[in-house]
Amino acid sequence: MDKVRIALLGLGNVGKGVWNILKSNREAIVKRAGCEIEIAKILVNDINKQRNIDVPKELLTTNIDEILRDDSIKVVVEVMGGLEPAKEYILDAIRRKKHVVTANKLLIAMNGDQIFKEAEENEVIVNFEASVCGGIPIIHGINESLTANRIEKIVGIINGTTNYILTKMTLEKMSFEDALKEAQEKGYAEADPTSDVEGYDAVYKLAILTKLAFDTRVDVDNIYREGITKIKPVDIAYAKEFGYVIKLLAAVKEVNERLELRVHPAMIPVIHPLANVNDSFNAVFIKGNAVGDLMLYGRGAGELPTGSAVVGDIISVLRNGVERSGFTTANYAHKDIIPMEEVKSKYYIRILVKDMPGVLGQIATIFGENEVSILSFIQKPEKQDKDDYVTIVFVTHDTYEDNINKSLVKITELEAISKVENIIRIENLE
Ligand code: NAP
Ligand code: HSE
Repeated sequence: MDKVRIALLGLGNVGKGVWNILKSNREAIVKRAGCEIEIAKILVNDINKQRNIDVPKELLTTNIDEILRDDSIKVVVEVMGGLEPAKEYILDAIRRKKHVVTANKLLIAMNGDQIFKEAEENEVIVNFEASVCGGIPIIHGINESLTANRIEKIVGIINGTTNYILTKMTLEKMSFEDALKEAQEKGYAEADPTSDVEGYDAVYKLAILTKLAFDTRVDVDNIYREGITKIKPVDIAYAKEFGYVIKLLAAVKEVNERLELRVHPAMIPVIHPLANVNDSFNAVFIKGNAVGDLMLYGRGAGELPTGSAVVGDIISVLRNGVERSGFTTANYAHKDIIPMEEVKSKYYIRILVKDMPGVLGQIATIFGENEVSILSFIQKPEKQDKDDYVTIVFVTHDTYEDNINKSLVKITELEAISKVENIIRIENLE
């Protein structure tokens, strides 16, 4: 039986998952790959770090040349993260005719075009299934199984860390800080969790999915982004009263050859399947013009689920059966992004107001003048902030974001308004 030597760049959460899967499922993997897979070298930052894994120390190196300059290593598996030096190492590996497997959504979203172009020129494969939604086979799903379709819409929960945090805040009343700490301990979060909680990680993933599904170039800076740090326990409680659950959603939709692209927290009805996607699970709805509606669900982060996608990609390289690797840059069509002002949604708006006669009327008048129609509102009798203020929460009918923005500018100018404390979109998931 042939033996193929591969190298890992990184032995953190994902690297450990890859090591453990290759070991525990060895027999089945050998049959499916048609060869033995030998991890010849593993690049790390610190060889002496305590790792709780039975990796022989002699496999570890801090010298990338021991991997890149070794012609016997045929596949480089990048699970270290970050833009540099990951990009430099991957491009060097490609130029040396090594196949690449990566879990790095940041790098693929930012530099995928260059990486896939060089891979094509050097006739090597770059697989990146683990870069989006951990263990869910969404990249191969879109790139291969759904490739006959014109994709109309993708919407879902594509970040495990934020879904874990929101689940814990909602179901167990855990604080944001404690829930984030747990997500980090479980290996779900990025090295810098700002990427998760401020929505950047979901933006990178959405950019990758959009490129694959809509054959267009997407600049990550053009994707509207809001994270979950502004979500307070009080918003979660109000959402429940209105019959909603708060999730970090990512969505792309094609409307008249323009793309609506956004990542933000959204309220979704408790009875919708996405409302019951909890912990580190992800779920994505895809609408294709042939397949119709489709939902993919599974673990979006963690050692083994992500390792599953990475090892699947390695086997795929060894079988050499990848029909389409990377983005089809040659077929890119330009698509304009729809400005958020033109996006329609229902809104939840929480305002702190002075408890005095006429305030509600003043706010309602401004909404009316800007064509914002109120669906319902709640005013709790409890006073806040030195007893002078109360909270009013409005839920609007479907409204253009532009109308909401114009209303809020006027509302904040009112003397009786202390603060517009939060605005959260209510997703229309039909
Ligand atoms: P991690 O736990 O922080 O591990 C990173 C590993 O890379 C560590 O072993 C580290 O070495 C090594 N490393 C980092 N920079 C290096 C450098 N400059 N030179 C040499 N070694 C370096 O990260 P992770 O959670 O496994 O994530 C890795 C990648 O997978 C990221 O791109 C992430 O976005 C992606 N991903 C993660 C998940 C997940 O659930 N965690 C899911 C999907 C995709 P030391 O151990 O010596 O510090
Ligand atoms: N930090 C990412 C998440 C890892 O929480 O979804 C999976 O890409």
